[in-house]
Amino acid sequence: MSSAKQIILSPALRAAVHVHSSKLNPEAAKLAAAYLSSAPSGGKHVLPDLPYDYAALQPAISAETMELHHSKHHNTYVTNLNVALEKLDEAVSTSNVSSIISLQGALKFNGGGHVNHTLFWENLCPKDSAASEFPSSGALKDAVEERFGSFENMKKEVSALSIGVQGSGWGWLGYNAGTGRIEAATCPNQDPLQAATGLIPLLGIDVWEHAYYVDYRNVRPNYVNAIWDVINWDTVEERLVKAKSG
Ligand SMILES: [Fe+2]
Repeated sequence: MSSAKQIILSPALRAAVHVHSSKLNPEAAKLAAAYLSSAPSGGKHVLPDLPYDYAALQPAISAETMELHHSKHHNTYVTNLNVALEKLDEAVSTSNVSSIISLQGALKFNGGGHVNHTLFWENLCPKDSAASEFPSSGALKDAVEERFGSFENMKKEVSALSIGVQGSGWGWLGYNAGTGRIEAATCPNQDPLQAATGLIPLLGIDVWEHAYYVDYRNVRPNYVNAIWDVINWDTVEERLVKAKSG
């Protein structure tokens, strides 16, 4: 007799087996399998709780922005990802390859939105917390200085790229496992960094207007310049150490 967990995961496992079928193009199989394998126990993705209050990042980010961003925007990505995964499960169970392929856009957008925002909340912390101080030694400081020369240069480069994103998207600091170095990058829309570029995400800056319009109106540079006050460098360094260890 199967355990409860096995019963719950059964549709996802069945889907993963089907998705790896040669009927699908490699990109579709890779994307669908990644989202299926990331589904939490219970089969549904959920909106994560924040590790701080909505007002904790003021004045860089207002409580109003944080509440809207987390409880409305991120929650919508989670809801729509779960809907898309249900449709994917149905499409796979009926071997409807056309329907499976047609779901790629919804999976990429809503799955990316969920992945990106989950990373983003963990990248932030109150200005007065110890984690908001860039470390004076260690793996992160070494990696930043190796690639950018200095912390200030890294901020300038990541800020410039983030501010320059056309339309909606994200600025990133990521780890390139091929070179063993960190890199600045951007992605449009909700494209997730690792799936889109291969870089392992260390730090993400959401530059969708919903991330700053209440506080900064259309002046994205002021938002990007302010967000450096509330970056959780402990999280960035933990991700770097984990990425380097493979
Ligand atoms: Fe966002």
